[in-house]
Amino acid sequence: MNFADSEVVGSILAQAGYSLAPTLDEAGFVLINTCAIRDNAEQRVRHRVRELRAAQQRRHNLRIGILGCMAERLQSRLMEEEDNISFVCGPDAYRRLPDILQQVRHGQKASEVELSTTETYADIEPVRLASNGISAYISIMRGCQNYCAYCVVPYTRGRERSRDPKTIVEEARHLFDRGYREVTLLGQNVNSYQCDHTDFPELMDAVAAIDPALRVRFATSHPKDLSDRLLEVMASHPNICRCIHLPVQSGSNRMLKLMNRRYTVEWYLDRIEAIRRHLPDCSITTDVIAGFSTETEEDHQATLDLFRHVRYDYAYMFKYSLREGTYAWKHLPDDIADQEKTRRLNEIIALQGQIALENNQQEIGREYEVLVEGESHRSKERLFGRNSQNKVIVFDRQDARPGTYRKVLVETCTAATLLGRLTD
Ligand code: 5AD
Ligand code: SF4
Repeated sequence: MNFADSEVVGSILAQAGYSLAPTLDEAGFVLINTCAIRDNAEQRVRHRVRELRAAQQRRHNLRIGILGCMAERLQSRLMEEEDNISFVCGPDAYRRLPDILQQVRHGQKASEVELSTTETYADIEPVRLASNGISAYISIMRGCQNYCAYCVVPYTRGRERSRDPKTIVEEARHLFDRGYREVTLLGQNVNSYQCDHTDFPELMDAVAAIDPALRVRFATSHPKDLSDRLLEVMASHPNICRCIHLPVQSGSNRMLKLMNRRYTVEWYLDRIEAIRRHLPDCSITTDVIAGFSTETEEDHQATLDLFRHVRYDYAYMFKYSLREGTYAWKHLPDDIADQEKTRRLNEIIALQGQIALENNQQEIGREYEVLVEGESHRSKERLFGRNSQNKVIVFDRQDARPGTYRKVLVETCTAATLLGRLTD
């Protein structure tokens, strides 16, 4: 999401006459787009801000601005704590950036953190800052009002609002015409997308209809809203990728209730079954939190059991981090010792690593259509691409070109990567 937002910021600033500086020493401003979801994300940003002091000593006019969720959460407090920051700008205030930079140039400090109920940046075509020219993000909705007990996002990104579907389809078509072959529709909870009379399954249907050669992905879905109708739309379009990210957070009903997730383990498993029924070749990935408030060994074991049962293809795994202002911060103790959180997290990581490897071993001998993305990091002789399931496959380049579809037979694997050869 931040990646997509940075591209919107890039576009707003380009229209105001700014351009990307090739190096830090040529830059007038450094803008850091930030995440506030866990404390370590914020600590990394603070570390970066302190490192930039050296550059500011070399060049006194170098100004630093903090964008995004950390700006929203801490507001001008952040400029007091890190006094080399010149401005903070929250996620709904990016249109104000040209004015802010003007102010800051004159030596003032600025704080723009008002949240909006309507801002979707629908009319701004993002500059594709770090794009490979093949795959792009399209933000379709902003904000979240699910209020999971541990999560700061509803406070930093504000109320849910959906972007006009016409502008989304136009942006995707424009990308396809320029040679892009994959779009990922983004939102904190894409299943609650609703604009005028268009809901998320209809939107997916419209984007997938642009061209069968345009792959469509989306993230993230909340399990409580994953409908059969969406799965039916996916099944009817082979170019909607067979990959669903369905954050579970915990395998214990007691924890899920305390987290205010509004589903049970049984509900979640029913959704997994529905995915397997409609899309038998779909990969499933998740997010999980270890050591949430009052989590017992039994709760933790329930999470491990759920992982054994679902057999995710990939998981983002986190230690619970207490966030100021959340329901959990107000009402629930952060009572699992850090060492214990780490132990539980490491157990989940080890189990998931084993499952991912076993899942990948099952892929050996299968042939996939791969969208070729670029050179493998390890060798220029090899290219990598992804299959519909979003698995990375590395293969000898031969005559393959990035941005095209090729058939690859999987021959070997690691827990993270499949290795194969071209067959067409
Ligand atoms: N501590 C740890 N992980 C968190 N997440 C959200 N809030 C917290 C928190 N306070 C995780 C959830 C979510 C992902 C984006 O980040 O797993 O799905
Ligand atoms: Fe946070 Fe829950 Fe919203 Fe996801 S759905 S952004 S975890 S509040």
